[in-house]
Amino acid sequence: MRKLTVALGERYYPIIIAANQLQQCGELTAEVIANRKVLLVSNPRVFGLYGEKTAASLQQAGFQVEVGIVPEGETYKNMAQANRLLDMAMQQQLERDSSIIALGGGVIGDLAGFAAAIYQRGVNFVQLPTTLLAQVDSSVGGKVAVNHPSGKNMIGAFHQPRLVVIDPDTLSTLEDREYRSGLGEVVKYGIVCDEHLFDYLETNAELLSQGESACVTEVIYRCCKIKAAIVEKDETETGLRAVLNLGHTFGHAIEKLGDYGTYRHGEAIAMGTMAAAYLALDYDFITEQQLQRMEKLYKSLNVDCRMPAFAPEDIYNNMLNDKKMQQNRLRLILPAKWGEYVMLEDPEKGRVLQAISSAQGN
Ligand SMILES: NC(=O)c1ccc[n+]([C@@H]2O[C@H](COP(=O)([O-])OP(=O)(O)OC[C@H]3O[C@@H](n4cnc5c(N)ncnc54)[C@H](O)[C@@H]3O)[C@@H](O)[C@H]2O)c1
Ligand SMILES: [Zn+2]
Repeated sequence: MRKLTVALGERYYPIIIAANQLQQCGELTAEVIANRKVLLVSNPRVFGLYGEKTAASLQQAGFQVEVGIVPEGETYKNMAQANRLLDMAMQQQLERDSSIIALGGGVIGDLAGFAAAIYQRGVNFVQLPTTLLAQVDSSVGGKVAVNHPSGKNMIGAFHQPRLVVIDPDTLSTLEDREYRSGLGEVVKYGIVCDEHLFDYLETNAELLSQGESACVTEVIYRCCKIKAAIVEKDETETGLRAVLNLGHTFGHAIEKLGDYGTYRHGEAIAMGTMAAAYLALDYDFITEQQLQRMEKLYKSLNVDCRMPAFAPEDIYNNMLNDKKMQQNRLRLILPAKWGEYVMLEDPEKGRVLQAISSAQGN
């Protein structure tokens, strides 16, 4: 079993990473939370696969479990579903020190976490992430949110979990496309946070691409370690944490242009990261050889990183609407030397358009 800790002043929480841990989630939760009432939140697909096992483990540890099922899909990461969960919490008479537990991918984690953040001004929250993307990124760090018709993640909070239990075995049932989407976020860490991770990904690309269990577990551990260290230094994203937004301003524009259905989040991030790399090359922050290594890694992991053929102007305009913007000026995280980044404020429009075009293969 591998264990990490996220330390935030007086508060801290464990991240447990190991095969078969879903079966132990009751015991692990009981170690950090005394109140025995929990609302377990999931969707039909994930609950069908892992719900029984999870609920049984919680019950064995003495928890009184109610289940809240949210329909499948990003469209249900909304206020109406958050309200439903709050109604259930009221009915179940969850108390200030009771818990809401998320079993699922980033959608369920963000939604359940948001309900946990606002119910009685915040109750305990436990993350049981079941997608690679959630295991390497969204389950750690306490960003929780729902979407608003006018924008993704527009209504949210920072609400750290009390515990994260990562069982890589759950990835065996994940659709291949979802797995590759998670790999899109993994590569991000290697590029701007940790050169050794990038080397590791290159060396082990084949194993990782096949989902070989020891390799995947190692990668999850390394990504969580990086994210934990960043969150410890900058919990509410006032500075350093922005590094994790590599490729995200470009990527969010792609997700939006695809109506949040055509491209998975991690896919859009891989594409956005290559656009950021072309811009970084133009500004001489990276070398041609670096850019090629990035592209090659995505390819060997079977992650499509070519920007789709939307008009570069349309992509640019959507970037301007991203909520990561500051005072109407674009602010982009670009790769620099391996494991380092540059924050570029207000880049020239023509150069951004050119980078998009290059990332489209033109
Ligand atoms: N809070 C954060 O810091 C943060 C970071 C990145 C992304 N996000 C959010 O995460 C969401 C995307 O998360 P995601 O990529 O995990 O998508 P997701 O939650 O939609 O899950 C993807 C699909 O996989 C299914 N699934 C989940 N686990 C499974 C399993 N083990 N076996 C079979 N199927 C399974 C789900 O039912 C769904 O159909 C977005 O809403 C994004 O905004 C949040
Ligand atoms: Zn992301």
